[in-house]
Amino acid sequence: MLSKKLVLILVVAFMAAGALQAQDYEYIGAAKCKMCHNKPATGQQYKIWSEGPHANAMKALESDEAKAIAKEKGIADPTTDPSCTKCHSTYARIDQNSNISLTETEGVSCETCHGPGSKYKSKSIMESQEKSIANGLIIPDEKLCKECHNAESPTFKSFNYEEAKKKIAHPVNG
Ligand code: HEC
Ligand code: HEC
Ligand code: HEC
Ligand code: HEC
Repeated sequence: MLSKKLVLILVVAFMAAGALQAQDYEYIGAAKCKMCHNKPATGQQYKIWSEGPHANAMKALESDEAKAIAKEKGIADPTTDPSCTKCHSTYARIDQNSNISLTETEGVSCETCHGPGSKYKSKSIMESQEKSIANGLIIPDEKLCKECHNAESPTFKSFNYEEAKKKIAHPVNG
């Protein structure tokens, strides 16, 4: 059996590692990604995102439909209530005490799907997928989408990953 002391040391070590990681990768906001990811020659990911559903997800909470859903659930204001904003904005999903430069108006931002960018954002790292991943880049998968695209969403019908991925596609080459 492990001694109580050893268990305590292990717990503290785990917590310290977690805290370090959280500090390691900070959210920098979509405007920073835009500096490099808005060129037509390499697919202008920022423009595609900004015109798509995720960048505008907070606006969806201002609609009459949103107000009706909120009323039924006894929610006063869907644009500020965490039970709505937690899936409609990256900002509401993260530790707001950490050092972040990301705003709620960004909606579901690049970094929800690709990970906080403070460490992978430099050109020399970004050019290598391996280095980027080692510095916090996430290549999103179906599981990540389903953190929000699930039956907890009041308007949920179904989610087909391959089709959904095509609808939000923003490839580097065309
Ligand atoms: C200094 C420029 C720069 C910044 C800032 C930057 N990137 Fe990149 N990124 C690149 C380059 C260069 C590539 C390689 C592909 C290309 O040429 O567009 C790349 C590739 C990527 C890839 C593809 C990785 C792979 O190998 O599959 C993703 C995803 C990505 N960036 C997301 C982001 C996100 C999200 C941000 C903001 C948090 C960001 N980038 C900020 C320059 C940058
Ligand atoms: C943080 C939560 C969140 C994550 C993660 C997320 N989405 Fe969404 N997504 C939303 C919200 C909220 C909307 C609705 C926004 C609106 O209609 O204004 C949406 C809308 C969409 C739409 C348009 C509506 C539809 O169902 O056709 C597509 C397509 C989509 N998402 C695909 C994806 C894919 C693919 C992934 C994973 C790579 C993903 N989403 C991850 C929150 C999320
Ligand atoms: C579990 C995550 C999640 C939660 C919680 C959530 N939403 Fe959503 N919402 C989504 C996703 C994903 C979509 C797009 C696909 C769908 O309808 O499921 C969406 C779409 C919507 C739409 C439709 C937007 C359009 O373009 O037609 C409205 C309106 C909406 N949500 C309002 C709300 C309100 C109001 C709340 C709080 C009571 C809420 N949502 C809570 C994930 C969520
Ligand atoms: C809702 C989730 C989601 C959001 C938000 C999102 N992406 Fe992506 N991104 C994806 C998915 C899914 C892929 C494809 C991954 C794969 O290769 O399977 C991808 C791929 C990429 C690639 C690589 C494309 C290629 O051809 O290899 C780049 C670069 C990129 N994203 C940048 C961005 C930037 C910059 C933003 C914000 C302006 C952003 N993404 C927002 C889900 C997202």
